[in-house]
Amino acid sequence: MDGMTGTDKMDALIDDRPKDGVFRVDRNIYLDEEIFEAEMRNIFEGNWQFLCHESQVKKPGDYFATHLGRQPVYVHRQEDGSLKGFLNVCSHRGAKLTPLQQGNAKTLTCRFHGWTYKCDGACIRIKDEATGYGEGFDRSVYDLRELPALGSYKGFIFGSLSGDVDPLEDFLGESRAFLAFVADQSAAGLEVLPGSQKYVIGGNWKMSTENAVDGYHTSTVHRVFANTVSLREAREGYEGMMKTEVGRLAKKVRNGCYDLGRGHMVIWAERDPVSTSPLSEAEDRLSRDYPEGRVNWMLRRGRNLIVYPSLMINDFAATQIRIFRPLSVNETEVTIYCLAPSEESREARYARLRKFEDFFMASGMATSDDVTALEATHEGSRGRVARWGEFHRGMGTMIAGPDDVAEEGGFMPETSNTSWDHETLYYSFYRQWRQQVARA
Ligand code: FES
Ligand SMILES: [Fe+2]
Repeated sequence: MDGMTGTDKMDALIDDRPKDGVFRVDRNIYLDEEIFEAEMRNIFEGNWQFLCHESQVKKPGDYFATHLGRQPVYVHRQEDGSLKGFLNVCSHRGAKLTPLQQGNAKTLTCRFHGWTYKCDGACIRIKDEATGYGEGFDRSVYDLRELPALGSYKGFIFGSLSGDVDPLEDFLGESRAFLAFVADQSAAGLEVLPGSQKYVIGGNWKMSTENAVDGYHTSTVHRVFANTVSLREAREGYEGMMKTEVGRLAKKVRNGCYDLGRGHMVIWAERDPVSTSPLSEAEDRLSRDYPEGRVNWMLRRGRNLIVYPSLMINDFAATQIRIFRPLSVNETEVTIYCLAPSEESREARYARLRKFEDFFMASGMATSDDVTALEATHEGSRGRVARWGEFHRGMGTMIAGPDDVAEEGGFMPETSNTSWDHETLYYSFYRQWRQQVARA
C-alpha cells in the first residue's frame, strides 16, 4: 500500500530492536491523519471491539447503543434470550434508528418517516407502503444490517463490522484470564451500576491506552490524590473497605507488568491490606470455590487490563470499565462505568462507589490530572525535531514468558517484568497495531 501506512513506512515508525536495547515509536503516530484513517478502517471498524456488558442488555427487548469506530451500532437482546447486533441506521434514508443509549423495546421505529423494525432486524412496517411501493412489495430488502460478528466472553460483549475476524476467544488470547479474574468474583454475576460519565481528552487515543497501564506516572501525576487521601483518612478515621490502598501509589508493595501478546497488556500490584477491597467480604467463598493462586489474582492483587485496542478493565480501588473511543486524531472520548458483584453487601457497594468517585470519575481527584498530562503529551508530540517516544524502561529485567505469579494465575504472557513502572508491556501492542495499520 502507498502513502503513510504502507508496510515499509509503518516499520520505520516503530523502532523495534529490543536485542539492541531499543524500542521507540515515532511521535507522528499520534498526529497523522492518514494513520488515523487506517486505524479506523482496519482496527476500530474492521476487528473485534467491546460493545457493552451483558448486564446492560439483561432482559429480552433490552438494547444498548454504542459505536464501532465512527459507525453507530446497537446490541439487542432477542425474545429467545440470544443477542444480535445491528448498524444503528435506518435502511430507508439512513437516520440513526435509536437516539437513546439504552432501553427496552420489541420494535424500533425510525423517527424520520416512521419505518418499523422488529428486534430481530426485520423491517415490519413501511408507512404508506402500498401507495409508494405497490402491493406485495418484498419489505425484507430493507431489513436492518446485522453485525457479521458478535460474541460474548464472561459477560463482556464484543462485535465487529467485518466477518473476517478470528474467533473471539482467539482474539482475546491471554486477556481471557484477566476478564475471568473479574467476572468470576460473583456467583450471581457482575452488573454495570446505573450511571456513567463521558468526557473528551484533547489527545490521540493511543496515549490514553498507554496511560491506562502506565504505572510509572502514578507517583507523580497522582501524588496529590495520594496525599489528600492519606490526610483525609488519618483525620476522619476511615476504616476497612472505606480505606484506599495508597501503598501501591507509593510503590511499597510488589507489583509488575505483563505483555499478554496480541496487543493485550496488564499492570498489577499487591493489595495492602486486602481488607480495603469491597470484595474482601467474599474471601471465604472465593477460597472454597477456587484454588489459592486464583484467589490471589481475583482478590489479593489489583489489576489494570487493556484489551486491545482500547478497552480498560480496572480492578484496583473499585472495579470499572473504561472505553477509549477515537473521535479524531486529536480527540478521544472516554466512557466509564462502575462494575460490581450483584450480591455484594450494602457496605461494600457504598465503599466501592465512593472510591470509584474519588479516583476515576471526571469529577474525582485523579482523572483530571491524567487528562492534563495526556493533553500536554499530545501537544509535545508536535515537537517533530525530537522524533521518538521512548519505551526502553525495564528492558534489563524483562523475561520471556511467565514469572512465578503468572504461573499461579494460569496465564501465559509473552513477557513478564518486575515493576509496573516498566514499559516492556507495550511491545506486542505496537507490533499488533503496526501490522493492522499497514494492512491494505
Ligand atoms: S430514514 Fe428512517 S424511515 Fe426514513
Ligand atoms: Fe493516571
